[in-house]
Amino acid sequence: MIQEDFAIVRLVVNGIEHRLGIETRRLLCDVLREDLGLTGTNLGCEQGVCGSCTVLVDGQSVRSCLMLAVQADGTEIATVEGLAQNGEMNPLQSAFWDKQALQCGFCTPGFLMTGIELLRRNPDPSDDEIRNALAGNTCRCTGYEHIVDAVRDAARNAIGEPVGTETASDVDITAEIIAKEGV
Ligand code: FES
Ligand code: FES
Repeated sequence: MIQEDFAIVRLVVNGIEHRLGIETRRLLCDVLREDLGLTGTNLGCEQGVCGSCTVLVDGQSVRSCLMLAVQADGTEIATVEGLAQNGEMNPLQSAFWDKQALQCGFCTPGFLMTGIELLRRNPDPSDDEIRNALAGNTCRCTGYEHIVDAVRDAARNAIGEPVGTETASDVDITAEIIAKEGV
């Protein structure tokens, strides 16, 4: 439902359905971080350059600093918080850990989500394919070699089950409608 500058949107984030009342001007990254408390999605450049805010929207990597939350209405979103399952890191997270593919870690959620998208699409990528897939993500610390190593390692060890793909009917509806006067 959209009423001029205010809308109620339905987002399934990491398998949990949310119905949120939001201003239509708000970015997806801000709604994820501020309304849902999912601060693992980091904001670097806020203009679509660095990739640190990357999430998956219906399986496609998206820079959440360039997408309005209302544009994501009705979609399934995966963020870095949804990667670990039952207290176990996703194989790509484990590979980042094992290969020391991070230093400050600021860029890591974006690299992980981009890497997950790649490995779902192409479970056995070449080094060139890994580098091409990650080319839109910026890391100020690592020099990238260990990140490529980690993605290659995760591919060899087979990536785990996709995350954030449950349908709304499979999950508890935990969302609340954040009501606003007049809506
Ligand atoms: S914060 Fe979104 S691309 Fe940099
Ligand atoms: S680990 Fe610091 S920006 Fe990538």
